[in-house]
Amino acid sequence: MKPAVQATINLAALKYNLQRVRDCITSHQQIIAVIKANAYGHGIIEVAKALTELDAFAVARLEEAITLRQAGFSQRILILGGIFNTEELLRAIKNQFDLVVHSEHQLCLLELINNSQPINVWLKLDTGMHRLGINPELTQQFHQRLNRINFVNEIIDMTHLADADNKSSDNTEQQLQCFENHSQSNNVSIANSAGILHWHQTKQGWVRPGIMLYGSSPMLKTSGPDENLKAVMTLKSRLIAINQYHQGESIGYGSTWTCPSTTKIGVVAIGYGDGYPRNIAPDTPVLLHNQRCSIVGRVSMDTLSININNIENCQIGDEVTLWGEDLPVDEIADSANTIAYELLCNLTNRVDKAYK
Ligand SMILES: Cc1ncc(COP(=O)(O)O)c(C=O)c1O
Repeated sequence: MKPAVQATINLAALKYNLQRVRDCITSHQQIIAVIKANAYGHGIIEVAKALTELDAFAVARLEEAITLRQAGFSQRILILGGIFNTEELLRAIKNQFDLVVHSEHQLCLLELINNSQPINVWLKLDTGMHRLGINPELTQQFHQRLNRINFVNEIIDMTHLADADNKSSDNTEQQLQCFENHSQSNNVSIANSAGILHWHQTKQGWVRPGIMLYGSSPMLKTSGPDENLKAVMTLKSRLIAINQYHQGESIGYGSTWTCPSTTKIGVVAIGYGDGYPRNIAPDTPVLLHNQRCSIVGRVSMDTLSININNIENCQIGDEVTLWGEDLPVDEIADSANTIAYELLCNLTNRVDKAYK
């Protein structure tokens, strides 16, 4: 039985995008692949397997790191959010995870336990993101305290960029300057995907690509192909009804779209219950027979409707592409007033995944 909605994950495209990261850096830099949130919706285990040549992965939470270890990955696994109590710290140490330390609270937890197993600490400086991170003025003090903890092995200074998606913002330069003024380590990590692609100075030490690995652009108003990236996920569904309506008849909940003339409407078996955004702009495209046609009316839980007046020989069961290889997810995200990250992460369990 063919699933109603399928996300095909192209692992060759993932590897192509990894090579794209490599082409942007030098042999002095290292890559830690960001595979949090189920590898941005692509499947953490399958993605980690495809990237197994890498030495390090980053996830947001302890649970995600444990999932990877239990699946047999022996690489360095960094927990970007760090840990929040002693029990979590002990589990992290037992599993040899690398930890971000972004607060006094986390430093105190490290200071308070008895442990002999080494652990690597990524000290996060808040250079302007103002989300997680220590006041950069405290960097030296944190280093002194971390150096007194006998089981702390490497200390990597890191920061996260708030506006690197915007080439004309001054903030990235300012964050870099702040980082350079305060960092106490030769071992550092700054660049996310936007840094890797467009901010040369941020490419120091470890680079942390996320979205670019999945083939989508980190930059404002551009799409993956503009950055020479290949879409990893292609989301497809199929036509489950073809109906003809007359001028003046409206389509779907709220009757928000009315046929300007006799119109052939295709009903596609995907809706917000699968993660397709309900707040999509009118006329957002899908692909049917490799041609663009527009979504009309509101997206429902299980279906959406498209205008197929200009598509010949449509049949029930025909494939419809919602985003992917020939229709960048960035473009659809823009139509939903969001970013590709959110669309990719938001697919629900009802969506089947196939790997190729
Ligand atoms: C700390 C940190 N580093 C790196 C990344 C990867 O960012 P991007 O997906 O934009 O490359 C993220 C993602 O949110 C992050 O939180």
